[in-house]
Amino acid sequence: MRAALSAAASSSSTTTTTSTTRAASRARAMASSAPAAPSSTPPARRRAPVPTVTLNSTHEMPLVGLGTWQAPVGVVGAAVADAISRRGYAHVDCAAAYANEEEVGDALRDAMASGAIARESLFVTSKLWNDRRRPRDVRAGLEQTLRDLKLDYLDLYLIHWPVVWRRGTLMQRDGDASIAECWRALEALVDEGKIRSIGVSNFDEAQLEELMRTARIAPAVNQIERHPKLPQDALVRYCQERGIVVTAYSPLARGGALFADPVVSDIAEKHSVAPAQVLLRWSVQRGVVVVPKSVTPSRIEANADLWGFELDASDVEALSTLEDGESVVASPWGTKQKKNVVLRPLLTAIMWPVSKIVRVDVQRMGRSGFWRWAWSEGE
Ligand SMILES: NC(=O)c1ccc[n+]([C@@H]2O[C@H](COP(=O)([O-])OP(=O)(O)OC[C@H]3O[C@@H](n4cnc5c(N)ncnc54)[C@H](OP(=O)(O)O)[C@@H]3O)[C@@H](O)[C@H]2O)c1
Repeated sequence: MRAALSAAASSSSTTTTTSTTRAASRARAMASSAPAAPSSTPPARRRAPVPTVTLNSTHEMPLVGLGTWQAPVGVVGAAVADAISRRGYAHVDCAAAYANEEEVGDALRDAMASGAIARESLFVTSKLWNDRRRPRDVRAGLEQTLRDLKLDYLDLYLIHWPVVWRRGTLMQRDGDASIAECWRALEALVDEGKIRSIGVSNFDEAQLEELMRTARIAPAVNQIERHPKLPQDALVRYCQERGIVVTAYSPLARGGALFADPVVSDIAEKHSVAPAQVLLRWSVQRGVVVVPKSVTPSRIEANADLWGFELDASDVEALSTLEDGESVVASPWGTKQKKNVVLRPLLTAIMWPVSKIVRVDVQRMGRSGFWRWAWSEGE
């Protein structure tokens, strides 16, 4: 089924820009250029909700979510609370590997208890780490995440990377497990009502083809790195033609050099918005969900304020000149980084003897049991 953008996000609605909206966007753009201290006085009114896209599971997914990777414990809870209570967010992108789901869960619980948002309106994504591919581990991984997030069900659960590692190792392939078996375990959890939609992350066309050969439930989402330096247009087209919604991670290219690039800053000036808003609008107006990470209230606000302007064909054309195919995410097991052709086999070789000595449990990162001796008892 082809995913359909909700009417609220259609281009006709985005072209009905009023001067008030532009002025507000401009003010927010200026505010977003520098980090601001958390505001103690919330705006009088919560912002309007972010538009949604319909998944092949029939559930609605907000086009903007708050990223939480590297949002530190002690800070992430306030960012989630601010995003939900004041900035119109209803979507939070989490993962067990980010080591902060307990604090995110506290903020979600408090937001619901205060009446800021109802569970039905909230969309929470989490991800299953690379060494949890056997059915028992899939179930236990989900249950730990649900406990940490203090939820009865997840809106979306993703296979974090298209790799199958032995439990407790980094980059050591588990020959007795598979993505297909992991997917069947996820399908069973959908049947039980513990997950509403299931999807993948960092999968390419061949990996999706392989998965869909045996899947009973088609993946609803593929979350991939996407920004003008790495647009992955062919993969976006492939997914959208098959009704798989694409989520762009690192949509700001991690907040680096792109903001200062004259191509981006000129377009931002033309529309009186911030460079970050240009990068995010570039994805959402193609029906691609974005999950920008910020712990800065003014930026959290600006990153969800994308509906008062539209990039035209010349803007999109200019942004296409920024493509250089370089990933901004340093994951040795990723396939997008050219340097990994050498790095990946090297690290696999180095990690093999290490895995004989210690077990590193990324799914439990930052808590007791995160690492232990390989020969010690227990899970
Ligand atoms: N599936 C995967 O394998 C995968 C991989 C990577 C990321 N992700 C997800 O995608 C999310 C976003 O990606 P990311 O964290 O890599 O990078 P990103 O969202 O592209 O960039 C985040 C950086 O940009 C800054 N920033 C945010 N909004 C800004 C604005 N309006 N103006 C200026 N700077 C701004 C943030 O700073 P402050 O926080 O200080 O404001 C932070 O340093 C992650 O948090 C995670 O949820 C998934």
